[in-house]
Amino acid sequence: MSYIYDSNNQLQIVQILDGKTLSVTIQRELGDEVDLLIEKGKKRPHLAAVIVGSNPASKVYVGHKIKACDRVGFKSSLIELGDDITQDQLIAEIEKLNEDADIDGFIVQLPLPRHIDNQAVIQAVRPSKDVDGFHPVNIGKMTMGLDGFIPATPLGIITMLDRYNITTEGKKVAVLGRSNIVGTPMSILLSRNADIGNATVTLCHSRTKNLDDILRNADIIVAAIGRDRFVTEDLVKEGAIVIDVGINSIPDQTKKSGYRLVGDVDFEHVAPKCAFITPVPGGVGPLTVAALLMNTLKAAKATS
Ligand code: GUN
Repeated sequence: MSYIYDSNNQLQIVQILDGKTLSVTIQRELGDEVDLLIEKGKKRPHLAAVIVGSNPASKVYVGHKIKACDRVGFKSSLIELGDDITQDQLIAEIEKLNEDADIDGFIVQLPLPRHIDNQAVIQAVRPSKDVDGFHPVNIGKMTMGLDGFIPATPLGIITMLDRYNITTEGKKVAVLGRSNIVGTPMSILLSRNADIGNATVTLCHSRTKNLDDILRNADIIVAAIGRDRFVTEDLVKEGAIVIDVGINSIPDQTKKSGYRLVGDVDFEHVAPKCAFITPVPGGVGPLTVAALLMNTLKAAKATS
């Protein structure tokens, strides 16, 4: 529970959804499960990550994923490829990972260089090793409520809602952004007939009319459009639950690095109105990593 002053200098109670601490808890639980597997003589779960080119943000994200593998006792492999690799060569690398019996699951970090067709790459990953949950087979299974891999960021968000005992049934949800990685799967998950689901979801995008009204009516907002502090205080109703998926870097001369990270939500002004809100950093990001590990353990258990 946190106390925050609102714009009228009134003290408000708001619960910060602490993704960082929850991610540590989940990783501890996963580590215990790995110990049990090893005690039973099973093989250590193994995640591989492919990174193409030198996008600095991608390098940081993949670094977090590899470090997290070490923490929970997974084996990990990092495959770094130059940005001059052809699509055929990249798909040949993916084929090797598909065939490698020691690798339980792998990811190809996005974005890819412009000369590579993302969909061709995503569809080259064997669905049973697609721990990112991006393959159409896994998206289809998720949509139909069948068991498969759920994309890591949406899985992290529903895990966070579940662990904080936040119910979604019957609630009005506005999902902002329709990417294949976050917005679209999030809207499907929250619409499903499931414990964390049964919500009435509006998926908002660049052509949405009356966006302000939709947001102001929402009990839950999931912001995933990559626009710095787009969701302002006037767009959020009192007592709303706000999940901020954005990670935007803005100039800040008070920082040694010269920049700081902010979300898609104007946290400082929105937080006092919320029942629950995720911070940036330390909210959804760490949960995405935990969810990837959850998927990898699931892949390992399916074959051992
Ligand atoms: N780029 C941004 N988010 C993700 C993710 O969850 N997985 C992969 N592979 N690339 C990303």
